[in-house]
Amino acid sequence: MTELSVYEPSLIVLCGPAGAGKSTFAHRHFSPTEILNADVMRGLLCDDVNDQDHNEQVFEVLHRIAEIRLQNGLCTVIDATNLETAARLPLRRLAKHARLPTHLVIIEADLELIRRRNSERDREVGEGVLRRHMQLLEELEPSLSKERWGRIDKLDARALSEVRVKRCTLPPIQFSLTGPFDVIGDVHGCLSELRTLLDRLGYTEDGSHPDGRRPVFVGDLVDRGPDSVGVLKLVLSWLEQDRALLVPGNHDDKLYRWLQGRAVKVQGGLKTTVAEWQELSAPEERLLRSRFMAAMEAAPSYLWLDEGRLLVSHGGLEERDHGRVGDAVRAFCLFGKTTGKVIDGFPERLDWAADYEGGPAVVHGHVPVRVAQWRNRVADIDLGVVFGGELCAMRWPEETFVTVPAERAWWGEGIWGATESADEEIRTS
Ligand code: GTP
Ligand code: MG
Repeated sequence: MTELSVYEPSLIVLCGPAGAGKSTFAHRHFSPTEILNADVMRGLLCDDVNDQDHNEQVFEVLHRIAEIRLQNGLCTVIDATNLETAARLPLRRLAKHARLPTHLVIIEADLELIRRRNSERDREVGEGVLRRHMQLLEELEPSLSKERWGRIDKLDARALSEVRVKRCTLPPIQFSLTGPFDVIGDVHGCLSELRTLLDRLGYTEDGSHPDGRRPVFVGDLVDRGPDSVGVLKLVLSWLEQDRALLVPGNHDDKLYRWLQGRAVKVQGGLKTTVAEWQELSAPEERLLRSRFMAAMEAAPSYLWLDEGRLLVSHGGLEERDHGRVGDAVRAFCLFGKTTGKVIDGFPERLDWAADYEGGPAVVHGHVPVRVAQWRNRVADIDLGVVFGGELCAMRWPEETFVTVPAERAWWGEGIWGATESADEEIRTS
């Protein structure tokens, strides 16, 4: 039996020739309101499910309903042939705009099968149409390589009745993890301060806690500080034993991209981590690389925890993006809210927390501040330990802060003294 995993919510686009079994499959696995069927729209608009003369209006309505459903965060299945790029493109755009995953499910069939299945039902689909559909199905592969689908699955029309559909929640949504947690701010390679903080919070060397507490790292484990490799080794071993959670920070992401061999400029804070990295022996380097990359690939952009009460993201997250995913959401989680404008060489930031009215508490790092405090249920816990500030943890559900002072300013000495250029340095964190 084939298992088809689908995200809930997501946009699921069925694709296959007439008579392949799309509608039968959709009704077997999804509720009637989740399925948008082009023939049903034809019936609603023209009283004739076979009417091909009003396709523009039919798809205008279908797209509009899909758009609203996706914006409402609902699973939406498109039951139409969708064999042409022009049919698939607007659907993919709607999901991207709603920041939900896209999934193309191709139902592969042969001419003999669809001829037979079409002849066995009342709807008439001409031989010419069937041949055209088969030709489009055969030509699908090259067009797909140019389309950005989150997932593509292929199902055999002959074995459709054996397929099982498994619905999965989106990776950031981890409501069943209820804590208690200690959310830990940007560490930036400050291993000694991290050890002191963990000790103060009551953790043992191996990451266990007598009260079953769990650290959640808010990202930016590396760069600028004295021992980024040491911080990674500690955090990775706890992650691998399922004793901690991690959301990536922009510095972690940059290191990841550097390790992938992507065009990353080794400058600023990354220089310190790269210098440490180059001191590793070849076997040690290979091992740390694979462990770090696996952890980064497993880490969702943000974590929505404790039955929806707590959301942890390096750069924070506006309410409209809670439960959403995709490139724009990931960019927000890594960099916070930026306008896209660059002022004096630095991205312009917006104070999204000032307008936050959401229910979940949002805990983030990324922007160094002097004091941790709740503002509209949002807390910034990056207290700039690497600049000589403090390393901070937010205890959940207590909602209290625990801090450990920096042993010294490891980067940008005197930065809290706020010279002009030092302030700019802070803004790039
Ligand atoms: P269009 O709406 O014309 O694009 O076709 P479709 O892909 O939605 O096909 P549909 O689900 O209407 O199925 C076409 C015919 O095949 C129907 O008579 C179904 O009862 C039959 N059929 C669908 N799935 C299966 C299957 O798994 N096995 C068999 N034997 N018949 C199937
Ligand atoms: Mg159908």
